[in-house]
Amino acid sequence: MDALIIAIDGPAGSGKGTLARRLAGAYGLRHLDTGLLYRAVARLMLDRSRPLDDEDAAHAVAATLNLEFMDESRLRGREIGDAASVVSAQPRVRHALLERQRSFGLEPPGAVLDGRDIGTVIFPDAPVKLFVTASAEERARRRHAELVERGEHVDYDAILDDIRKRDDRDMNRAQAPLKPADDAITLDTTDLDADAAFEAACKIVETCR
Ligand code: C5P
Repeated sequence: MDALIIAIDGPAGSGKGTLARRLAGAYGLRHLDTGLLYRAVARLMLDRSRPLDDEDAAHAVAATLNLEFMDESRLRGREIGDAASVVSAQPRVRHALLERQRSFGLEPPGAVLDGRDIGTVIFPDAPVKLFVTASAEERARRRHAELVERGEHVDYDAILDDIRKRDDRDMNRAQAPLKPADDAITLDTTDLDADAAFEAACKIVETCR
């Protein structure tokens, strides 16, 4: 493989996004937050008042998706994460977004992709695979702080409930369920701040690449 692929998977709020961005900067790679693709499909379905489980409509949206025209701030809200997890369970939606993720990664010098199925489905041969996780309580605490910073005022218990529901849906779906690839290295960030997680991840990258 000419392009270096770093595959990062993990549940919501595990710190994988921050880690992916920092690793991309450190290794001179491009970065794709693949959750944004599913969030964008969900956003457009809601904007068009389509039911989230209308697979034909969701597939059509995914197949013609152009992220350039989407305002990222409209994709980050709490309800969009949940809606994304509903559309992302649909096989044809996942299929429509697969090639786009692969071609992004294969362009030299390579990329860091973060999501739920990067090491298992999108790049099963990636030389570096990280599964980033943290306790549900710690992930809820982080997500809560992030939403408060964005001006969304929701209580911690509601966020914890969201996280548990989303984990359950993402881990138990038939298509590309969230799970570590057999050859992924797990990094538990429950007791690590962003710098310590980054340092630990760099060590893993150095041993794998
Ligand atoms: O990572 P993020 O929280 O933005 O992802 C939103 C939702 O999109 C996830 O809960 C998951 O259902 C879905 N997703 C996915 N596969 C990916 C990335 C995200 O199914 N590679």
